[in-house]
Amino acid sequence: MKTISRLAMILVTVTATAAFAKEEPKDPTVKARTDLMKTVGQNMKVLGDMAGEKAAFDAAAATAAKDALAAAFAEVPAKFEPQATDPASEAKPEIWTNWDDFVSKASKAQEAAAAIDASSLPTLQAGIGVAGGTCKACHTDYRM
Ligand code: HEC
Repeated sequence: MKTISRLAMILVTVTATAAFAKEEPKDPTVKARTDLMKTVGQNMKVLGDMAGEKAAFDAAAATAAKDALAAAFAEVPAKFEPQATDPASEAKPEIWTNWDDFVSKASKAQEAAAAIDASSLPTLQAGIGVAGGTCKACHTDYRM
């Protein structure tokens, strides 16, 4: 029950993000990092839909999604390092003043994604809660 309600919150967050989708950034550096986050969001949605039983559980698809999620997080430091700005960006300037903490949050997210056991529905449901917490931890501090 606890996992499910947390999961519901994550799904609400992901959906709300999509509903407020705004203009695409024009700066190519900013667009590269928002595209990376879109990849994160898409793979999290695949996992979230299965975990929330909105989509049929498929171990191979879930494993591919969690691998893609972990791979995307591995690219976060390189994609965010240049402090580019764009009116459409939601990145807070604290990313670059607290860079080590930002990178550490990205690495925790990567570990949580890699640790998801996507071989069964109950283990996916357990793992996605942890991964979802890492989105919130970073967005709270570093996303407008
Ligand atoms: C290490 C920090 C960090 C982690 C972890 C993180 N995000 Fe983000 N995310 C950001 C930042 C910063 C932005 C804003 C980037 C910008 O607009 O320049 C963002 C933006 C987004 C966006 C909007 C992309 C767009 O189109 O503008 C989505 C969707 C998103 N994140 C989903 C997620 C999900 C889902 C997770 C967890 C599975 C997650 N993020 C984990 C830092 C993080």
